[in-house]
Amino acid sequence: MPKKTARAFAPATVANVGPGFDVFGFALAGAGDTVEARRAERPGARLVRVEGDGGHLPRSGPHCVVTVVAQAMLRAARARFGAELYLTKGLPLGSGLGSSAASAAATAMAVNALLTRPYGKMDLVGFARLGEKAACGTPHADNVAPAISGGFTLLTFQEPLEIMPLPSPPRWWVAIAHPHLELPTRQARAALRRSVPRCSLTANVGAASGLVAALYTGNLKLFGRALMGDTVVEPVRAKLIRGYAAVKAAALANGAAGLSISGAGPSVFAVAGTRAAAERTGRAMRQTWRSQGVDADILISRFGAPGTQLI
Ligand code: HSE
Repeated sequence: MPKKTARAFAPATVANVGPGFDVFGFALAGAGDTVEARRAERPGARLVRVEGDGGHLPRSGPHCVVTVVAQAMLRAARARFGAELYLTKGLPLGSGLGSSAASAAATAMAVNALLTRPYGKMDLVGFARLGEKAACGTPHADNVAPAISGGFTLLTFQEPLEIMPLPSPPRWWVAIAHPHLELPTRQARAALRRSVPRCSLTANVGAASGLVAALYTGNLKLFGRALMGDTVVEPVRAKLIRGYAAVKAAALANGAAGLSISGAGPSVFAVAGTRAAAERTGRAMRQTWRSQGVDADILISRFGAPGTQLI
């Protein structure tokens, strides 16, 4: 039965995961965005209230993630009703934690519950990626796929999109550090070269394959090395994140098996074999950034959390 009101929570996500630019992603526990959708008589999608964005997000227009996603779904479903949307941001904007993806995923799931014939998860990813396009100009799906499905996802093919769930070793932990620095995704994408040398292609394909093998075998050491085998994106973006090299060294010296940039940054994430090692890594990352005059928030999560849920 279609609902008149539905609320969905979508988690934070880490995209790219080292060598898998625009391809790999996984969900994090403990932080995310909530969207409530209410059926309305007037057709179209309207964002009625936003909490937690400091007034920074657009409330309408082509860059408004939630209305773009909701409108696309209502139009595709030929709905004769509209949707009023209420967004609660739990994720900081432009952090590299999949903030726009979480808003898009929660919108897709909440609006879906209002429809007479709801879409499947793959379609929801397709709608949610329109929100990414609205936010930063490209419809990359490496955040929205794990945000909706949960766990670790591989985008095997881009057009048409094909998603594969990969295993998330249940004993692994992640320490995420979000420094209070600005790095808009648009800028972090614009900084990348448009083509890559052949040797980088070889290195990244090898590292990405090693990363997948590590997930299937639960080999954390291999995962850490493969994570740091990206020769294309990390070297460019690391320069945009103040203190990155020192934070990486501190994480590796305090029990992390590997570290890379979370999504487009400036957040970074490190993987560890125990919760205690992840916490130690988190403290070391925060201290290192503080010593450079930058405050940082730390999130400790299991590796690969559940995806978007109706609540
Ligand atoms: N794959 C994307 C990027 C994730 O790195 O630009 C950020 O949304």
